[in-house]
Amino acid sequence: MIVLGIESTAHTFGVGIIKDKEVLANVKDSYTTEEGGMIPFKAQEHHVKVCDEVIKNALETAGINMKDVDLISFSQGPGMGHTLRVGAMTARTLSIVNDIPLIGVNHCIAHLTIGEELTGAKDTVLLYVSGANTQVIAYEGGKYRIFGETLDMGIGNFLDSFARNMGLGFPGGPKVAALAEKSKNYIELPYTVKGMDVGFGGLMTNLKDKLKKGFDKKDLCYSVQETVFSMMVEVAERALAHTGKKELLLGGGVACNTRLQEMCKQMCEARGCKFFIIENQYLVDNAAMIAVQGKVEYESGKRTTDSTIRPYERTDDIEITWK
Ligand code: ATP
Ligand code: FE2
Repeated sequence: MIVLGIESTAHTFGVGIIKDKEVLANVKDSYTTEEGGMIPFKAQEHHVKVCDEVIKNALETAGINMKDVDLISFSQGPGMGHTLRVGAMTARTLSIVNDIPLIGVNHCIAHLTIGEELTGAKDTVLLYVSGANTQVIAYEGGKYRIFGETLDMGIGNFLDSFARNMGLGFPGGPKVAALAEKSKNYIELPYTVKGMDVGFGGLMTNLKDKLKKGFDKKDLCYSVQETVFSMMVEVAERALAHTGKKELLLGGGVACNTRLQEMCKQMCEARGCKFFIIENQYLVDNAAMIAVQGKVEYESGKRTTDSTIRPYERTDDIEITWK
């Protein structure tokens, strides 16, 4: 079965093509800035501008024609209405014009499914750390349950706005990571874990104050990473202990961070659990995962009757039919 997936929840417009379990193409074009953050309508303009090229490029890379595609899958939510609409319209148009079935999927769950599909992990706790989302998710009783999550902003958005406050561009996570490598001087920072939830707002306020006072940026970057990644590892470990599961999977753009990966690995080794990480191209927002998600749902008999976007859809709204 050949599935073409379309991703457009935020900064990335992507088209992924899979054939059964093999990824034939994973092409994307992401909206970035040198200074300042992401403006939704600018990201939308970006997607409108690049969508046809990305589709053509993906088909060429996969070495197929549109008529070879058996299913079109798209990110239906959650995300920014502006950008979601571009992906949904593109998917619906391709589906109608070429008479190919259409399926809408949940972006967050796609991060988890591609991790399990590529690693062979079966029953994971997912630490999902992206721009907008920060959640600890695990399967229980027919749904993916959110065991813990951010009480304010997502960890990636936090890193991006910290970077923006230092005059660095978007995305800020890799820029913070590069500066952090240059220091080993830990400065005490607020650490907010409440049960299995985390918060970054207080830390952000504290950092803005420290930046004004002229604290060294490298030291702050190092200390920020140590602090927020420790918070994430703490809640992930609590979720493993609570569910009794033995596998931890990382997903989302912030999961590309090698320091976070190292800390997760250490915790898993200490607990006798397995740690799974996939290639960066499948961690960040990508369309191969949307194709994979479409495939498993379609094969389990799921059909999309309402293809309107769902900007606020929650992970635990989705009925899991494929596990
Ligand atoms: P979602 O819609 O799932 O919330 P997203 O739109 O935020 O996803 P992702 O590609 O999953 O997109 O994640 C982007 C985030 O990842 C950005 O905030 C970026 O700064 C962060 N990021 C990318 N690479 C790194 C890294 N090496 N270290 C830390 N953060 C990183
Ligand atoms: Fe994402």
